[in-house]
Amino acid sequence: MAEQSKKWVLMVTAQAPTNIAVIKYWGKRDENLILAINDSISVTLDPAHLCTTTTVAVSPSFNQDRMWLNRKEISLAGGRYQNCLREIRARARDVEDEKKGIKITKKDWQNLHVHIDSYNNFPTAAGLASSAAGFACLVFSLAKLMNVQEDNGRLSAIARQGSGSACRSLFGGFVKWVMGKEENGSDSVAVPLVDEKHWDELVIIIAVVSSRQKETSSTSGMRETVETSALIEHRAKVVVPKRIIQMEEAIQNRDFPTFAQLTCSDSNQFHAVCMDTSPPIFYMNDTSHRVIGCVEKWNRSEGTPQVAYTFDAGPNAVLIARNRKAATLMLQRLLFHFPPNSDTDLDSYVIGDKSILKDAG
Ligand code: ADP
Ligand code: DP6
Ligand code: CO
Repeated sequence: MAEQSKKWVLMVTAQAPTNIAVIKYWGKRDENLILAINDSISVTLDPAHLCTTTTVAVSPSFNQDRMWLNRKEISLAGGRYQNCLREIRARARDVEDEKKGIKITKKDWQNLHVHIDSYNNFPTAAGLASSAAGFACLVFSLAKLMNVQEDNGRLSAIARQGSGSACRSLFGGFVKWVMGKEENGSDSVAVPLVDEKHWDELVIIIAVVSSRQKETSSTSGMRETVETSALIEHRAKVVVPKRIIQMEEAIQNRDFPTFAQLTCSDSNQFHAVCMDTSPPIFYMNDTSHRVIGCVEKWNRSEGTPQVAYTFDAGPNAVLIARNRKAATLMLQRLLFHFPPNSDTDLDSYVIGDKSILKDAG
């Protein structure tokens, strides 16, 4: 380092949106590298509504790597954080800030420590993909700080090692995570299918049934499913490959009835394999089931789907309306069936359009 003073701090801040899978990832073939047993497809949400903001800082006065999540210090000991840090450090390049008189060489990065401060503006570990926005943001901000010159596809393979779903948050619009074939995971990357402008009539509503942290994390839930469910192999090998092809076609053609049918069926099958796990895992609750009933009934009465529902590993509903009019009618229905301040009221509703990763740095 040209500057030997320990006073300087270099910082980068970035934001990353969450993404919600319409064809779900559930099950790993490699726990350490995080390699999935099937391809998945998701839609990236608008970071104005649900996003992670992460600031990463480096200074010669830091004597260890440290991280704060939602203002509380957490341990970086787990393999996932270490894997992401190692992969980014391995690609770090020279950084020069003439104004501050700072010069960091590629070699310096191996000995410098970072402090990470991350904040989710939505419930953490409640089935709204906080791990996706969180690890995408962590990898993206560290890559900026360390001047890593890799495209978002390569960065997605690093974010994947933090949390599988995180690889898809590196792109906006509809995104596919290709499971890949290689043992080292080099071809297990996110690929953008269409950007956020392609199907911009869609409106996404999040109905927060509960902000509480789930009892079974996605990581342990899917491990138990792979170990004990008789249905998961059929899902991964037979059902999902067909659905991936159909879903890509529906998205390309903006074919809402097919899109809605595939999205709802895939969510329901994911929760069915959770229930087929021993002991069974229940991510949805009675309110979630009532939301499904409400959407199904309305779609049937209209003769063609107006809204698709999908639930990740938690009770909260993600509703994708075919257009703004359907979204408004859906909200009215939700308010009628789940009145505010009643036993089954929903914490909040968020309407979001699809959007792309924004670099706030
Ligand atoms: P979710 O459904 O919210 O993705 P998961 O069980 O998959 O729930 O993951 C939750 C975990 O993800 C948290 O316990 C934490 O370890 C990690 N995580 C969440 N937000 C962040 C963040 N902003 N930065 C880093 N890690 C995060
Ligand atoms: C139901 O990506 O959170 O949201 O890779 O173990 O961190 P880890 O799991 P995670 O699992 C997401 C599961 C899901 C479906 C999906 O996002 O595809
Ligand atoms: Co997650």
